[in-house]
Amino acid sequence: MQLLATILVSIALLTSASAQFTGLNTSREYNIRTCLKPGQPGKARFDNLWLDDYHTGAGLSDAVFFPTRTNVTAAGYLYPTNQTSAAGQKYYYQAFNLGNPFPWQLVMAFNTNFYAAWQPVRVNAGLGGGDTTGESSGFFLNSTGLQYGGAEGGFDGWLVCNWWHEMPQLFFRITGYGDFTPLSCADVYLMPEYI
Ligand SMILES: *[C@@H]1O[C@H](CO)[C@@H](O)[C@H](O)[C@H]1NC(C)=O
Ligand SMILES: *[C@@H]1O[C@H](CO)[C@@H](O)[C@H](O)[C@H]1NC(C)=O
Ligand SMILES: *[C@@H]1O[C@H](CO)[C@@H](O)[C@H](O)[C@H]1NC(C)=O
Ligand SMILES: *[C@@H]1O[C@H](CO)[C@@H](O)[C@H](O)[C@H]1NC(C)=O
Repeated sequence: MQLLATILVSIALLTSASAQFTGLNTSREYNIRTCLKPGQPGKARFDNLWLDDYHTGAGLSDAVFFPTRTNVTAAGYLYPTNQTSAAGQKYYYQAFNLGNPFPWQLVMAFNTNFYAAWQPVRVNAGLGGGDTTGESSGFFLNSTGLQYGGAEGGFDGWLVCNWWHEMPQLFFRITGYGDFTPLSCADVYLMPEYI
């Protein structure tokens, strides 16, 4: 759903940042749905939402959620990396096919300049090369959905908040903080629903 001009600009920008533009794999795609974690009364509005991209700049988006699943809801898939956890868990890119000839990827926007209990998540063009914008190469799926164990570690679950796009938006909690949850946020699992 990006304008062609925007795509061309983003290709130019990202090529210079040496991101990869191979890596589309449409063979086992899924949409990503929120599943409200138990014990959160009054937060049902954060359940059963569908992850998509919200354009913020050339090749850049924030991860947001819509209440309905359509045939243009972001189609995700796992793309292998050469990384594993210390315990041997294989790590992947959480890639997306947004209908372009190149993939997009989920990026954990870790901010090492200050301490904060949660941080936003992007959907940016390309695979890898995420170091300037965050971490992208530590995802995997298990029975409670999408997980992150990548290089910077510290992932403590997914948080969805009505935030700066005036709609539900994806954040991740960082370990070592409390469990304070604003009224406009809820803790969720992110479950793959195969297409
Ligand atoms: C594409 O995805 C399928 C299903 O996940 C996987 O078996 C296959 O190895 C992938 N192909 C490439 C080239 O990554
Ligand atoms: C997607 O859905 C719309 C209606 O909502 C329909 O017009 C369109 O043909 C569909 N596209 C595909 C690829 O199925
Ligand atoms: C993993 O891939 C990256 C990027 O292609 C490369 O720089 C690195 O050397 C590789 N690491 C291993 C252990 O193969
Ligand atoms: C899924 O992975 C997360 C993160 O590593 C872990 O905390 C959780 O226990 C795992 N779930 C299952 C059912 O193994």
